[in-house]
Amino acid sequence: MNICTKALSRFWWRNGPKLLKRELEREQFVRPFSQSAVKEEKGDKEKPGFPHKMKMRGWQIHSYGDLDEVQFSDNIRIPQVKTGSEVMVRIKAASVNPIDIALIGGYGATLLNLMRRTDIEFPLTLGRDFVGEIVYRGLGVPRDLRIGDIVWGVIPPHKQGCHSQYAVIDSSLITHKPRLLSDIEACGILYSGLTAWSGLFLSGGLGNLCASLQRTTSSNRKRVLILGGSGGVGTMAVQIAKSENVHVFATGARDSADMLSTLGADCVLDYGDVDFLQHIHSNGPYDIILDCAGSGPNFASKIQCDFGSYVTFSSPLLRNIDSHGLISGNVRNAMSLLEDNSRGRGLVKWGYFVPLQRGMEHLKRLVEQEKLRCVVDSVYGFDNAIGAYQRVKDGHLRGKVVLDLS
Ligand SMILES: NC(=O)c1ccc[n+]([C@@H]2O[C@H](COP(=O)([O-])OP(=O)(O)OC[C@H]3O[C@@H](n4cnc5c(N)ncnc54)[C@H](OP(=O)(O)O)[C@@H]3O)[C@@H](O)[C@H]2O)c1
Repeated sequence: MNICTKALSRFWWRNGPKLLKRELEREQFVRPFSQSAVKEEKGDKEKPGFPHKMKMRGWQIHSYGDLDEVQFSDNIRIPQVKTGSEVMVRIKAASVNPIDIALIGGYGATLLNLMRRTDIEFPLTLGRDFVGEIVYRGLGVPRDLRIGDIVWGVIPPHKQGCHSQYAVIDSSLITHKPRLLSDIEACGILYSGLTAWSGLFLSGGLGNLCASLQRTTSSNRKRVLILGGSGGVGTMAVQIAKSENVHVFATGARDSADMLSTLGADCVLDYGDVDFLQHIHSNGPYDIILDCAGSGPNFASKIQCDFGSYVTFSSPLLRNIDSHGLISGNVRNAMSLLEDNSRGRGLVKWGYFVPLQRGMEHLKRLVEQEKLRCVVDSVYGFDNAIGAYQRVKDGHLRGKVVLDLS
């Protein structure tokens, strides 16, 4: 044996197994979660909730329309983990949001299809936020997220949802579920909570980052008006605003007044009152008005007192793109926003659900400090998802509608 062969053989004995293992891991890192991958997984029986069949149960639509388009199937292909940063989660509970009902009707299809970057539009699985158990993880997933961990998470509207037994999500959009909350309570927080968080902090400028809105008030204690405090987003917004020690005004129907006060509203305004607008005016000015009632940008022009920002979650953005296409739709969007801002007594902005880790951490911290909880309107069994969708469609919600998959 010459020196070269000896050196090679020594190198192999020292490093061979390590290199081989690294190669195998690299292959698994990008390998889709396929049927063969399931069979090859060693010890998968020990992993709780690991799917041994490649089919699952779930609620999907195959075309746009009314609620009768929603179909139950126990023959849905389990989604694949395709990148190293993704996890597969077995869903334990999921909430129903107005966006689910809107998506059934085709709302936002033009832009969402562009974002999906695939020609395959259907079937679409509904459901945006959930609590579940990690059953499979890509190798790029942070080490603290392990198989068997119970997490909460949120899925952006252009991705396949979580009203199904399993869902695949990027690990940046899950964290460990706060211990203080049950699965039913926790699953209703993230979609509505991140919408309220982005409206108040990112669009409204609440918090320490932006003090520019103080021009409307002389005192340091900011004044925030939440329109529609009783729904999913509104109940979150009232509590988040309160946690910032601002003066919180909330509007709602008369029957929601006690709930809004308990959540932290300093003053509740009954929108059924004939002098409702007058009451809004006399309690002003406001640093932020957050529209969680579906009132839209036009309502800003009816408010006869000064305000810093009027942030509405009911903008025409996606509808304009649906009706007029991407370019023409966006020209109309720009014109609408200019028009909205030509009438009011403050800045009118369009707010959105924003899936950011920073926001998830903020909400988790508030839960742990017992400053944020989920008001549960009603809970439906997984088999009765249509009942849950109907409840959301009918409106007049007091908090969140939840599907129990446990
Ligand atoms: N742009 C985005 O990214 C985004 C994200 C999430 C939500 N949204 C939108 O934001 C809005 C709120 O969402 P959500 O999940 O909270 O809906 P929700 O759970 O249905 O809540 C709406 C609440 O507003 C109340 N309400 C209705 N009309 C009102 C009025 N004129 N004044 C005061 N309160 C009124 C309703 O109760 P009563 O009818 O009994 O009064 C209900 O409690 C919806 O329009 C939704 O589509 C947008």
